[in-house]
Amino acid sequence: MNYKSADWRDKMNLVLDYNNMMADYIGDEQGFSSTVFEENKKFISKAYNIVKENRGKGMMGWTDLPYNQNEIVKDILFTAKNIRKKFDNFVVLGIGGSALGPTAVFQALCHLRHNELPKSKRKVPKLYVEDNVDPERMSALLDVIDINKTCFNVITKSGATSETMAQYLIIMDILKSKLGDKAKDHMIATTSMTKGNLIKIAKAENLKTFYIPDGVGGRFSELCPVGLLPAAVLGIDIKAMLAGAKHMDKICMNKNVLENPALISALLQVLSMEKGKNVSVMMPYADSLKYIADWYCQLWGESLGKAVDNDGKEVFVGQTPVKALGVTDQHSQVQLYREGPFDKVITLIGVKNYRTTFEISKGCEDIPDVSFLCGHTLNELITAEREATEYALTTAKRANHTIILPEVNAFTIGELLYLFEMETAYAGAMLNINTFNQPGVEGGKNATYALFGKKGYEKTKEEMDNAPKKNQKYFC
Ligand code: PA5
Repeated sequence: MNYKSADWRDKMNLVLDYNNMMADYIGDEQGFSSTVFEENKKFISKAYNIVKENRGKGMMGWTDLPYNQNEIVKDILFTAKNIRKKFDNFVVLGIGGSALGPTAVFQALCHLRHNELPKSKRKVPKLYVEDNVDPERMSALLDVIDINKTCFNVITKSGATSETMAQYLIIMDILKSKLGDKAKDHMIATTSMTKGNLIKIAKAENLKTFYIPDGVGGRFSELCPVGLLPAAVLGIDIKAMLAGAKHMDKICMNKNVLENPALISALLQVLSMEKGKNVSVMMPYADSLKYIADWYCQLWGESLGKAVDNDGKEVFVGQTPVKALGVTDQHSQVQLYREGPFDKVITLIGVKNYRTTFEISKGCEDIPDVSFLCGHTLNELITAEREATEYALTTAKRANHTIILPEVNAFTIGELLYLFEMETAYAGAMLNINTFNQPGVEGGKNATYALFGKKGYEKTKEEMDNAPKKNQKYFC
């Protein structure tokens, strides 16, 4: 059975358990009354209508992605097949939304030691995502790949991001010097069809190019060619991912808030912010979902962290996203979550059926403090630890909720990514902000241009030069 069967799709439903956000479990001061949805009926309905009316328009073009990519998917699958035949490595050059999604899906759906597997077991290229401009990282990459056997995918929506273009310049120079005219066969561009420099370069260099639709911003781009091409190269079922997103889209467009997990979660997060809970912790209990937390941090942080609302009023809203990994961070961060300030909402992600079962071996029978583990599985242990953390947080009156995935597969990952995107859209509508811009990121980008003497940024450079100089007395 697969995603084409309605029964299977229903079995793959994600479950949002928000009991521990409610006053019944964490008390009146930290939690919400069961009447919260009724009391906020108008507020919820306003946000719902904003999202509904803007679907497919402006920067909400990403809501069309589960529906309108049949031809693109064919091209991606064809291209991916050729890449798999010819290359041993696939390297994404990009940053932010152009890198976090491919990394998250790679980690979720490939072998956890994919790049370390021998080729006979791996069967598809290794994946590297160059999400930085650390010179040591670039140098390390070049130490481990054979350029003759590597296909690069430069991804930038704006076609102007300094980090990505710097990576591109370095790699294209190496490709041209080693491979001459064949360099273009080793580089694929993913960018806007109309805007930016990469499209001009791609045309001039005659590069195979995939397009990022205008209404799809970086952090909402995993389900377009940005994420679909790297996933397809890795042999991930991208049609199933899109089917999962479509399935979740239907659920998240349910007008009845009590049947709409994105709307429930958005409301409880926004009301929690009003109660001073300014931190959103994302804590999956699965190594495969580790980088979903990184991806979420960009989505939630960049979308909701805004200085002004849609009426131009200063609001300085947002929740600081924090990534954690269960159970690893139980031994690092949970002390703070349970006993520190009441400023967090903690999202735990659980997996019902892990893709493998591992038994804990027998031994140490004479030491009961160790032997109690024997005969159990790591699956039971990780699940018990998630439940135990949930219990410990709840008894300490810490707001937490849990999303359960029946299993980790391409369909459920499509569902999960889309659920978070819809939750973000609803939360932004409730906060009355522009969820889809990132003026704060642009600020940093522009200052970098100015420091590098880019034409058109002379004024920014002058402002930076006139900024107060650092005082020697504050260095130590
Ligand atoms: O969400 C966004 O739009 C940004 O964070 C971008 O993903 C990031 O700045 C990279 O931009 P680009 O894809 O234009 O290179």
